[in-house]
Amino acid sequence: MKKLYEGKAKEVFETEVENEYIIRYKDTATAGNGEKKAEIDGKGELNLKITTIIFEMLQKAGIKTHYIETLNAHDMKVKKVEILPLEVIVRNISAGSFAKRYGVEEGIVFENPTFELSYKNDELGDPLMCEDHAIALKLITKDEYDYIRKETLKINELLKEFFIKINLKLVDFKIEFGKDSNGNILLADEISPDTCRLWDKDTNAKLDKDIFRRDLGSLTEGYEEVLKRMQK
Ligand code: TMP
Repeated sequence: MKKLYEGKAKEVFETEVENEYIIRYKDTATAGNGEKKAEIDGKGELNLKITTIIFEMLQKAGIKTHYIETLNAHDMKVKKVEILPLEVIVRNISAGSFAKRYGVEEGIVFENPTFELSYKNDELGDPLMCEDHAIALKLITKDEYDYIRKETLKINELLKEFFIKINLKLVDFKIEFGKDSNGNILLADEISPDTCRLWDKDTNAKLDKDIFRRDLGSLTEGYEEVLKRMQK
């Protein structure tokens, strides 16, 4: 297979089938735009398993995604899409860059979820981007923005409901969308504890990548706990 792209946590390969890619989940963990980096045995496998369960759940609920099937412990077969250069972030509870930017504590529960975009550009440090700027730069049209916002808030409701059943609070998350050859916008990339903040409902213990970002203990133990609850 020809490697088309290698990112911080995944590799993308072309297949013999037109319109299909293989995504390989790596064991690399990074934080702070790659400033902190480590190889963590088993992380890729855990994220692939968790993402698979989530994409299957979302597809059943009617969300259009790039997911086709998971082939083995490392590889996911997906529909070929052109990833939009936007990180789409939803927050239900204050944490991370939100708490830092506004000088507030983590853990403030919002009445309504917040929706934000970042421009995917490592050199610029993925700056926050408002709707008008994304449209002015022709990264998306107004209609695409409206669709992405509506779909994302629907995804938030489905994920919140899914996680609370297993005693996890969905604090915030980042998703990415891609466009297929027919111009359809599909949910793409991954949804895992690398890209979500998940706190235990009773203890607020962190079961996501903040374990690595903040040196809070074993990352794989946290991710294994998430997977175990999901498989129940
Ligand atoms: P933040 O608080 O650092 O802005 O992160 C918000 C959410 O987005 C959090 O769940 C982690 C996720 N995220 C990513 O998956 N990739 C990224 O590059 C960033 C900045 C955040």
